[in-house]
Amino acid sequence: MIVPRFHQPQRLILSVLVLSGLCSKLLHIYQHRSLPLSLLALYFPTFFIQEILLFVTVWILLYTTTGRWSVAAVIGSAFIACTDLLATSSQVSFYSQTGSEIRWDAARSVGASRQGMNLILSGLAPMVATATVISVASWLAAQGIWNLMSRWLCSLAHLGDSKIYHQLPGPSDLRSLVSNKSRLWTMVASGVTIGLWLIRPAVPYNHMTGALPFTMLGEHSRARRIAIESFPLPELLNEEFREPASGHYKGWAPTMDDLGNTGYGNEKPFWAQGPLPAAFERWMVSPEAEGSGSASNETVSVSDKQDHENQNATAEPRHYFYNPSQDPMRISNLDLEPLAPLQEALKDHAIPINHIVFVFLESGRKDLFPLKNTSRLYSQIRDTYEIYSEEDEADLHDKLSQITPIAEMLTGEESGFGSSVDSSNTELGGLSFDGILSGSSLSAKSRLVNYCGLGPLPVDFMHENDIIPYQPCLMHILDLFNKRKSLAPSENATSEPLEREWEAIYAQSVTGEFQDQTRLIDLLGFNQSLYSEDIDMENSTYFHEGMEKINYFGYAETEARPYIKDMIDETLRQNKRLFLSHFTSTTHHPWGTPEGFTREEYFGELHKSQHEHMDGFLNANRFVDTWLGDLMKLLNDAGIADETLTVFVGDHGQAFGEDCPTTGTYHNPHISNFRVPLLFHHPLLPRMHLNVNGSAVSILPTILDLLVHTNSLNQDDAEIALDLMNEYEGQSLIRPYRTSHNGREAWNMGVINAGGSMLSVGSAAVPWRLNLPLNNDFEYRFTHLDKDPYELEPITGWTMSALAAEVHSRHGPEAFEWAQKAEKVGLWWVMERKKLWNYRDPA
Ligand SMILES: *[C@@H]1O[C@H](CO)[C@@H](O)[C@H](O)[C@H]1NC(C)=O
Ligand SMILES: *[C@@H]1O[C@H](CO)[C@@H](O)[C@H](O)[C@H]1NC(C)=O
Ligand SMILES: *[C@@H]1O[C@H](CO)[C@@H](O)[C@H](O)[C@H]1NC(C)=O
Ligand SMILES: *[C@@H]1O[C@H](CO)[C@@H](O)[C@H](O)[C@H]1NC(C)=O
Ligand SMILES: *[C@@H]1O[C@H](CO)[C@@H](O)[C@H](O)[C@H]1NC(C)=O
Ligand SMILES: *[C@@H]1O[C@H](CO)[C@@H](O)[C@H](O)[C@H]1NC(C)=O
Ligand SMILES: *[C@@H]1O[C@H](CO)[C@@H](O)[C@H](O)[C@H]1NC(C)=O
Ligand SMILES: *[C@@H]1O[C@H](CO)[C@@H](O)[C@H](O)[C@H]1NC(C)=O
Repeated sequence: MIVPRFHQPQRLILSVLVLSGLCSKLLHIYQHRSLPLSLLALYFPTFFIQEILLFVTVWILLYTTTGRWSVAAVIGSAFIACTDLLATSSQVSFYSQTGSEIRWDAARSVGASRQGMNLILSGLAPMVATATVISVASWLAAQGIWNLMSRWLCSLAHLGDSKIYHQLPGPSDLRSLVSNKSRLWTMVASGVTIGLWLIRPAVPYNHMTGALPFTMLGEHSRARRIAIESFPLPELLNEEFREPASGHYKGWAPTMDDLGNTGYGNEKPFWAQGPLPAAFERWMVSPEAEGSGSASNETVSVSDKQDHENQNATAEPRHYFYNPSQDPMRISNLDLEPLAPLQEALKDHAIPINHIVFVFLESGRKDLFPLKNTSRLYSQIRDTYEIYSEEDEADLHDKLSQITPIAEMLTGEESGFGSSVDSSNTELGGLSFDGILSGSSLSAKSRLVNYCGLGPLPVDFMHENDIIPYQPCLMHILDLFNKRKSLAPSENATSEPLEREWEAIYAQSVTGEFQDQTRLIDLLGFNQSLYSEDIDMENSTYFHEGMEKINYFGYAETEARPYIKDMIDETLRQNKRLFLSHFTSTTHHPWGTPEGFTREEYFGELHKSQHEHMDGFLNANRFVDTWLGDLMKLLNDAGIADETLTVFVGDHGQAFGEDCPTTGTYHNPHISNFRVPLLFHHPLLPRMHLNVNGSAVSILPTILDLLVHTNSLNQDDAEIALDLMNEYEGQSLIRPYRTSHNGREAWNMGVINAGGSMLSVGSAAVPWRLNLPLNNDFEYRFTHLDKDPYELEPITGWTMSALAAEVHSRHGPEAFEWAQKAEKVGLWWVMERKKLWNYRDPA
């Protein structure tokens, strides 16, 4: 046992630098283990070029400097070494928590807020452990590494003969070791490495060469050069497929140029006069500004208002608009009759929708709304129990039946664990969907899809906070209804429900600061909002001792209860129609629950430690399920249960170790991050359980369709709604869904957290799904959901040609053709979203 002695700082610094650098790079290479092993081995030396150069530079600085320069060199290199140590520890910690790779640009952006910092710090324990291990190893290896580097480099540079050598703290016995052989070998090795580096394909290997700390400074996403300017499937736009406008339908006649998008809105519908909410831009801004007084004045006032809050929202007037008749991907189903059970129910009784409650379930997975005995999740739980009598099974089922009884009741979908719910009145209750995918696995982008029926910006993080959405959101539409009523007040304004004004309220018990959510919520047109910041001041109405945060974002939903109750009561007292949107919070990582809540263990003894996260998540889901019961009771107590449409939708799913190697939504294309529950609940709607392989982009048109179809709008509003539902990309879910039409497919695009790296491309017409990388750091990935519904065996490839070849051999020529088509359509969609959001890639 060698007892380490105190090192000269130079040696320790070099050692920390070398070990951190190598550790980080080896982890990085390990995360690319899906690459062909032979190629990884062949190009192995080229991955270390930057590290070697860095180590050599630092060694030279430490070795050759004297006096004051030496102090400077020590301080400078110590700074680099510490940075590397911290960065490597974060990398390892992040990998151990999520199974994926940290990206420094993303970490910087998340870490900019306090809650984001807490999120990062939640991985503190593994980080400290890693840092400790590397530090100790560095201490032990310091002398060895120093000797090795010095021996090698002295022999290269003949420093062994030089004068400096004698003056410096280098080991004195080195000279004898210096050999000319090392020069030869160094030259050969450098030659080979450089040769390999030159012949190596750029994707994905270039990305693997980056070394700490350089990767932390200048990590720019190496955007794939997207060469798709016009729609890639022109054969689908043939004249024969064109559809004329008729009634509220705008027709369908896309052209290959942009003209139809730039002039859209010039032909104003009857309702587009007078003041319009900001998101109705395309009916306000006239390119030539032909002096139509009210419109141009209104434009100015909108930008003034926005400028006040934020310079960028309307910095440049938009000139490219969404035009439904120009959208080559659009399929409408509004010409089809609404589903028969709905028609019959409406013949039978009225279904008044005077209020809307819109609930976003944080990390809401369809297989937990409700949990069923037919799900894969259930089999996974079941498989962790070894000895199994019928009695044990009954106990387990009893326990599992307590997780999502409210979801079971609301959806009318039976769990199969024995009835823990009153299943009387099963004919009524609403429409529950299987097969719906979220529009993005980043909550805030998903929110935009849900509220506004559009495609989010496929760019990292929330640029959308600064841009008026390219489609009016629900709240803007309700605001338009209000504005028109206040212009021409009806004498029956308060007595007739349909003449009342809407009040748009947003409520969550977690912070509004994270990623500037408050700004987005204001931009989307909410009039009142509630965040944890409003709950945790000592002068808050319901502040009490012992309020306890359940995660780094804030409180359990139950803390918001009295506030929500007050807001409902006040809205009703003012004779207004309630639009309440609530975002749940407990089901967010790390799945904490309040003190008084009894946590259960759902998984059995086998491999217990592998299921801790999922167990926590199940507990959080049980907590939220109970809370949803409370929320429904609030509506009941307020006396509006029978006239309220409650929409439940997951903001995104949540992948765990049980689903795939990577946990969470970040840079993780797995389908578990996208399968979300979608339920339109109303006590008087017929009970329907439908399978539609669509996406959340359909929610807004469906709500409008439901409002009109149940006669829940006055005549003027209904005309507007009929007009507007023809302006959106999604189909209505209360009518038969068209999976394809004249050769065009009903595509489902999903923007993957953090936004700009990958796009999930699927279609209701086929069982396939493509993960499309948007820069060179990620792989293509293809799955067949009929054969492999849980995506256990994805095909991956770094280039489309490599992927397509494998798809061809495993799934045949049709899948092969589709994968290539999906890539082009996906890239076009990305380009088009950027145009619609008026977003230009930074040069
Ligand atoms: C290394 O090469 C130098 C000349 O380049 C020579 O003087 C020296 O003797 C050589 N050393 C050994 C160990 O071969
Ligand atoms: C619109 O602007 C013009 C001049 O910019 C002004 O004369 C007019 O009064 C404004 N109209 C309204 C309704 O504010
Ligand atoms: C506006 O955009 C610029 C860059 O495009 C950015 O630097 C600035 O912070 C933005 N301003 C606001 C208020 O977001
Ligand atoms: C699920 O439960 C239902 C009702 O108890 C039962 O009929 C069915 O066989 C169960 N399915 C499985 C896969 O256990
Ligand atoms: C107001 O209500 C009365 C009776 O409820 C009805 O006769 C009248 O037409 C209503 N007026 C309007 C403008 O709707
Ligand atoms: C509600 O918010 C919208 C959008 O910000 C605004 O236009 C409207 O005047 C507000 N309504 C009320 C009653 O405050
Ligand atoms: C509560 O206190 C904060 C400062 O502590 C103050 O900014 C806020 O206006 C107060 N709110 C009310 C409702 O009094
Ligand atoms: C939805 O997709 C799944 C998986 O491909 C398929 O099994 C199912 O039949 C599809 N449903 C409809 C209604 O097309």
